Amino acid sequence: MEPVTVWWARREAAHPGLPALLDTVERARRDRYLRAEDRDRFTLGVAITRLALAPLLGVAPEQVPLTRACADCGDPHGPPRVPGGPHLSVSHSGDRVAVAISPHGPLGVDVEQATARMADVSGHLLAPDESAADERALLAYWTRKEALLKATGDGLRIPLTNLHVTPPEMAPRLLTWKNRPDLPPRFTMRSLDAGPAYTACLALLDHPDAPIEERPAAPLLTTTAPR
Ligand SMILES: CC(C)(COP(=O)(O)OP(=O)(O)OC[C@H]1O[C@@H](n2cnc3c(N)ncnc32)[C@H](O)[C@@H]1OP(=O)(O)O)[C@@H](O)C(=O)NCCC(=O)NCCS
Repeated sequence: MEPVTVWWARREAAHPGLPALLDTVERARRDRYLRAEDRDRFTLGVAITRLALAPLLGVAPEQVPLTRACADCGDPHGPPRVPGGPHLSVSHSGDRVAVAISPHGPLGVDVEQATARMADVSGHLLAPDESAADERALLAYWTRKEALLKATGDGLRIPLTNLHVTPPEMAPRLLTWKNRPDLPPRFTMRSLDAGPAYTACLALLDHPDAPIEERPAAPLLTTTAPR
């Protein structure tokens, strides 16, 4: 069975050859980011997506037919999709970028850097019977729930408190989802290795036996480095 692949990059992998891979919509979005770190994270996410999908689709990276239409407004800031192609999910935080690609069912990936802001979100994050002793535990709940919400494409339009997941000391699993009893048995979840001071999770729909591989994206990215 073909693996689900999670490609990992650090911000330092961004280089001047990458923007050439972006289409005009992506370049316009890149140009709107005021902070260099936001530009780099976005550019890396798009570049890894295009470089990883190109050999699977048999086209040049620039020709991978990516769309990002938002379900609410139609603007290109929604989940990335390839019509009829593999499923994908992108996440960035701090200096980490993750791009997850599945030849099987829809999937969601989320990475978060440990930051003080987590303490403020617990009221919006934890369901009534969930509790978190510290920052690390909050991050685990956050990434587990966001990975699930990204896999369904709902994102934060659905309250995080609608989902009930296993606590951080247990392997990640969806226990209940308000008004969606069909979903818990369909999800497979995996904690990912984003390095110290980061927490990351993957949620995959409908393919419990799919192998999951984590790979460095640096070798992909250097193929486009200016010489
Ligand atoms: C997407 C979202 C779940 C994650 O936010 P986050 O933790 O701050 O950021 P992450 O880096 O983990 O993920 C961002 C990526 O998720 C993807 N994404 C965006 N919307 C998504 C959705 N509904 N479902 C799945 N993935 C989504 C994009 O690839 C985005 O990266 P990109 O813009 O560089 O391509 C959250 O910001 C959200 O739900 N936003 C949309 C809310 C909405 O739909 N509002 C209506 C606007 S009109």
